[in-house]
Amino acid sequence: MTIIMQSAPGSSGYLDLYPERKMSLFKNPYILGLTAVAGIGGLLFGYDTGVISGALLYIKDDFQEVKDSNFLQEVIVSMAVVGAIIGAAVGGWINDAYGRKKATLIADVIFTMGSVVMAAAPDPYVLILGRLLVGLGVGIASVTAPVYIAEASPSEIRGGLVSTNTLMITGGQFLSYLINLAFTQVPGTWRWMLGVSGLPAVIQFVFMLFLPESPRWLFMKDRQNEAVNVLSKIYDFARLEDEVEFLRVQSEQDHQKTKEIKYWDVFKFKQIRLAFLAGAGLQAFQQFTGINTVMYYSPTIVQMAGFRSNELALLLSLIVAAMNAAGTVLGIYLIDHAGRRKLALYSLAGVITSLILLSVSFSSQSSDSTNGLYGWLAILGLALYIAFFSPGMGPVPWTVNSEIYPEEYRGICGGMAATVNWVSNLIVAQSFLSIAAALGTGSTFLIIADVEGKSLGQGSNHTKSSSAWKSTLAV
Ligand code: BGC
Repeated sequence: MTIIMQSAPGSSGYLDLYPERKMSLFKNPYILGLTAVAGIGGLLFGYDTGVISGALLYIKDDFQEVKDSNFLQEVIVSMAVVGAIIGAAVGGWINDAYGRKKATLIADVIFTMGSVVMAAAPDPYVLILGRLLVGLGVGIASVTAPVYIAEASPSEIRGGLVSTNTLMITGGQFLSYLINLAFTQVPGTWRWMLGVSGLPAVIQFVFMLFLPESPRWLFMKDRQNEAVNVLSKIYDFARLEDEVEFLRVQSEQDHQKTKEIKYWDVFKFKQIRLAFLAGAGLQAFQQFTGINTVMYYSPTIVQMAGFRSNELALLLSLIVAAMNAAGTVLGIYLIDHAGRRKLALYSLAGVITSLILLSVSFSSQSSDSTNGLYGWLAILGLALYIAFFSPGMGPVPWTVNSEIYPEEYRGICGGMAATVNWVSNLIVAQSFLSIAAALGTGSTFLIIADVEGKSLGQGSNHTKSSSAWKSTLAV
């Protein structure tokens, strides 16, 4: 269904022929602006992931029933992930049916409603409704932003541009920790922490009104003239002709094979099924690295390592978030230079090694009452873990999912793969603390390392799904 053209615009063959047409990351302000506006979706994603741990401390002070119930606390935290699961699944369909622009606008409206509901919540139940709404918005945005950016990007810088959205996720997480610190002394603490996130959503809504629909989606919907108009803002005249021709051939081929797309068609056609397995598998592996146990619980992990002070724990988690964002910047560079596959495999290998180090330091620490050395070893493990995760397993799954599917299936396949990401996120986040309590933190990290070790074996062998990933990358 997807054609692989050696001379497709942006492919290395084409760029060897016309090196002067190659674009660099900072050459095109239009694409950079579009990426920055679309990336606000990533900012909302990251902010929402990071903010709740701090806000919850103050929500408990205001609502006695929340303080008394672990269950209510868990529901407040995880309702946003539940919303994101639904939002990602439905968001894929919205993307295909109504386009990337409308999907972004819808996500902004729902997200803004959610943040207002949370900020004004008179009781925990209204707050839970607000969390569900922002989760829906985040879920839709998590599918839409990477696809929208990918479809507007010249392919030689596509990985870097899509990874900018991951940088916005990690930046959003960092920002949420800072905002949590900033509002601790302000009356209405948690209402501010949760409410301010509506602002970027409103900003994105306004800017999006001035941005175009994705040129690939327009082409697919037979709106060629509009598509060419958008492409002419991105490419100079010489390359524009080739890009338009490439899209025309591709969309003709796809049109012949597909009429109306249904969810189960994904499993009917072998090539799409394999691409989906590769994409969804990557999303699951990303979450089973345990990244969100670190994002949600890093202060707790630091305390488990023997550092009891709250301030130190918070400071170290802020440093972890900053490292995560800095590592993503490296990923933006590497993804188009080293390639997705190599980057993911090296990153995974480093993550597993760091998990083993974490496991050893936690296990040794429990048999050593002094804590000092092993505590620092655990912090080193945490730092290495983030250093390896952030340039590779952070951005690669989102990037690969934005580019491996044929145009007609990009929304639903990307949406279903994102749903796999959010479901895996929920499973890991919900089970980490209880497994750590039952088996010990050291063994828990060892289990994660083992799961990831198996996936590394899968990825480095030429399994069917990994070759599907390679063969469809020419989109
Ligand atoms: C993941 C998120 C995670 C973040 C951490 C993203 O790529 O999808 O679940 O919180 O990285 O930086």
